[in-house]
Amino acid sequence: PAAVIVGIDGPSGTGKSSTSKAVAAKLGLRYLDTGAQYRAITWWMLSNGIDVNDAAAVADAAGKPEIISGTDPSAPTITVDGADAAGPIRTQEVTSAVSAVSAVPEVRTRLTELQRSIAAEAPAGIVVEGRDIGTTVLPDADLKIFLTASAEARAARRSGELKGKEASDLAATQAALVKRDAADSGRKTSPLAKAGDAVEVDTTELTLEQVIECVVTLVEERR
Ligand code: C5P
Repeated sequence: PAAVIVGIDGPSGTGKSSTSKAVAAKLGLRYLDTGAQYRAITWWMLSNGIDVNDAAAVADAAGKPEIISGTDPSAPTITVDGADAAGPIRTQEVTSAVSAVSAVPEVRTRLTELQRSIAAEAPAGIVVEGRDIGTTVLPDADLKIFLTASAEARAARRSGELKGKEASDLAATQAALVKRDAADSGRKTSPLAKAGDAVEVDTTELTLEQVIECVVTLVEERR
């Protein structure tokens, strides 16, 4: 059968990563976390003393770091200039800075090209998760999913993932998440948005297993 391309978009805390990895593993597809790439470029900017709120400086540097994504859904990896970035890209510092960096058009152009080439090289196909996959990166995807959930459910899930001190403050987690989604939805270049032909799945009342099952069924219908 021909390669199958699946795009999964939605705001933070809707279960995009867990769902995308599990669907890819079940169907023998590759997996690409585009959010990890935006985080990786942000980590590089912070590490190199670039002011993330200076769009011109971010644009100038956008092409400098070498970002490599490993697409095995059971062990995805990300490196920046050869260094393992999996840990550093999940810090609070990177999370707070990523929306500013990802709003810069030069950053988006560069990563969009990288994402398209990775998708084109996946032999059996790929599940790509992000914010603009269905609208911009892979407009011809075989299946587009848009995951949603209430702000309360999303904050509760995200808190559960965070360790220690951060986990205790649900209200702060929810506020930070709502702020990041507003920035991602409000930017000019390829904002977070549901593609017209995407299937919307509200995960508020669903278990992760139910969401995975739902997406797997939709992929199989289109294969
Ligand atoms: O998915 P994750 O929360 O790791 O994404 C981090 C950030 O990367 C998002 O808040 C958004 O600013 C940016 N992003 C994006 N476009 C994508 C994926 C992520 O702008 N396709």
